[in-house]
Parts: sequence; structure tokens; C-alpha cells
Amino acid sequence: KTKLIKIDPENIDLQKLKEAADILREGEIVAIPTETVYGLGADALNPVAVEKIFKAKGRPSDNPLIVHIADRERVGELTGSIPEKAVVLMDKLWPGPLTLVMKKSSIIPGVITAGLDTVAIRMPEHPVARELIRLADVPVAAPSANVSGRPSTTTAQHVLDDLDGKIQMVVDAGSSRVGLESTVLDVTVEPPVLLRPGGITPGQLEALIGPIEIDRTILGKISPENTPKAPGMKYTHYSPEAQVVIVRSKDMKKQVDKVIELAKENKKAGRSVGICSTEQTANRYSGFLALSLGDRNSPETIAARLFALLREFDGRGVEVIIAEAVEEHEVGLAIMNRLIKAAGYHVIEV
Ligand code: TXA
Ligand code: MG
Repeated sequence: KTKLIKIDPENIDLQKLKEAADILREGEIVAIPTETVYGLGADALNPVAVEKIFKAKGRPSDNPLIVHIADRERVGELTGSIPEKAVVLMDKLWPGPLTLVMKKSSIIPGVITAGLDTVAIRMPEHPVARELIRLADVPVAAPSANVSGRPSTTTAQHVLDDLDGKIQMVVDAGSSRVGLESTVLDVTVEPPVLLRPGGITPGQLEALIGPIEIDRTILGKISPENTPKAPGMKYTHYSPEAQVVIVRSKDMKKQVDKVIELAKENKKAGRSVGICSTEQTANRYSGFLALSLGDRNSPETIAARLFALLREFDGRGVEVIIAEAVEEHEVGLAIMNRLIKAAGYHVIEV
């Protein structure tokens, strides 16, 4: 049975949190809250512990993990060399939802990097994550705390829904603020390449370090000619039980009309339908189970709810989710990246 402990991020009970740190130090795995999503943590320098993460998640072993730290001093011992642009980004954007891929040092076990010569490093901003990493006094390897392929988890309950009985403990500190996984930037190449969009946007990165390249597979279909540079991005991802269809149009009215048309068709065919709407369109879908992702004018609200909403539709037994597209710009790029993968590239343009 998985133990759940609640920690108030505004008033951290160190004695209680120490229990989680001890589990990490003993080579077991613990789900930890971060500002992006919940992570499934293990001592990054203990390969046996790290193996347990892959087993609990059912994660393919060729998909490398992110190493989480609480102090900048740690970067030196984990990496081979630190590019100048990485220094700028760490200065300005750490702690936060930004992961940097750098050359790895020899202390990083091969199981973490899936044999690559690079390592992904992130300093989370969440006070509970940072305090826990400090107490454990080891770098913490942590992928998202979901069963591989499912939507990532943004609450402790989601973690239990996926992993109850398979992990030692969940540290519950409420809902994750950002709601999507961190931005992953490869700084071993010039220009740096955005491997995964997230809460830190291309605009924020370019304002600090100049032009970056955007991996073409972020929105495009993966094919033998078009393979993603982040190994993990090639797998089926973020998939709820329900089938997901996205409707995209520059014209909001056309978009809504098409969603309604598809919803009616599916309902007629006897399928249970859910609609991902937005504040701007929520009142257009009466008669259907429509849940709002958030406000188009503040895409952060949509990012924060996306995974939770996909899971909620599953909980309600929905078979087909019809989702409105949002603008693929800044945080919207991260939202559409996750949504398109959840839909298995099923996007209807109108
Ligand atoms: O927000 C996050 O990043 C969360 C929280 C827990 O920190 N973690 C997370 O981990 O999303 P995960 O394992 O679900 O995603 C890590 C991504 C994968 O796409 C993986 O392929 C990529 O980072 N990655 C890790 N190491 C890499 C490396 N050395 N080179 C290229 N991509 C790498
Ligand atoms: Mg993941």
C-alpha cells in the first residue's frame, strides 16, 4: 500500500517531510509535488533505485530521466561542461519549469540517460520539492508520476489513481501550478534546440539567449524522416482512455459549429461525448457534457487544467473527447503539443 503524507507548502513540516527524504536515501521511490506536474523520484546516483521508477511506470528503458537539484552548486559535478547560455538561463529562470540538456559527467548512471552522453537537469521552484531534495541530500531523478503513456499527474489523487501499491509514498502538496511538464532545451548544440515546450516559452528563452531552434516534431507528425531529438517524445503520450479529436480554425464560430456537428454525430452513433471548451465558448454547448479548459486570454489557465480535464472525462466514462484548438503561440505551443499527442495527431481543420 502506498502511504500518503500531506505537506503544506506555505508551512512545511520538516519532520514529516524527512520521512520521504529517508525513503529516497534508502533507495525507494516517492512521488513528489513540483510546480509543473507530480514527479516520481529516486536517488539519481543509485541505479537500482532508478530502475524501480522505470518498472513502476512501465516506462521504456530508452527514455532518459530528468535529474532534479535544489542547489546550483550541484550542476558542476553532474555535467561535463556548462555552456555560457546555460549559465544565463540558470541565473534568470532557475528555480522554475526549465530543464537544460548538457554534457553529462561520469557520476551519472547510464540508466538515467539511456546511454546518451547528455543529462537533463532541472531545479524545481516548488518549495516542497526543493526542501525534500535538500533533506535527501542527493540529486533526484524524476519523470512525471503517471503510468507511461497516460496524462501526467497534477494532484496526489491522480498519482494514486495510476500508481497506488506500486510506490512507497506520495507527498501531497495540492495541485501543480503550471500543469504541464517543464520546457526542455538542449544547450549542447548551437543554436540551442527546444525539445519540449512548457511553462517557459520560446519568447522568454530568446529574449535571454537569442534565437533557438524548435524541434519540428513538437507539432508535426513523427516519421522516419522526422524523428524527435528528445527520446521520450516519440512515444504515445498523454492519452486518456477516451479517443481525442481536435478541431482547429482561425474562425471561432466555425470552430464551435464543427465541434457541435462532431458531437452530434458521435452521440447519434451511441458514443458518450465530452467537449473541451474555453471560457469564451463554454455557453455554446448546451445539451452536451462540456468542460472549460480555461480562458483563451490567459493560456496559463488552460495549461493548468488540461491533464486534469482529460482525466476527469475518463472518470465520467466519456468515449470521445472533442477539443477546441488554441493558438500555438508561447504557452499555447505547449498546450497544443500535449493535446495533439493526446489526440494521436487527429486534428480536423475547418
Ligand atoms: O516538469 C517536468 O519536467 C517533470 C517534473 C517531474 O519535473 N518531469 C518530466 O519528466 O516531465 P519526463 O521523464 O516525463 O520527461 C522528460 C523528457 C522526456 O521527453 C525525455 O526524453 C527528455 O526529457 N530527456 C531527458 N533526458 C534527456 C537527454 N539527455 N536528452 C534529450 N532529452 C532528454
Ligand atoms: Mg512524462
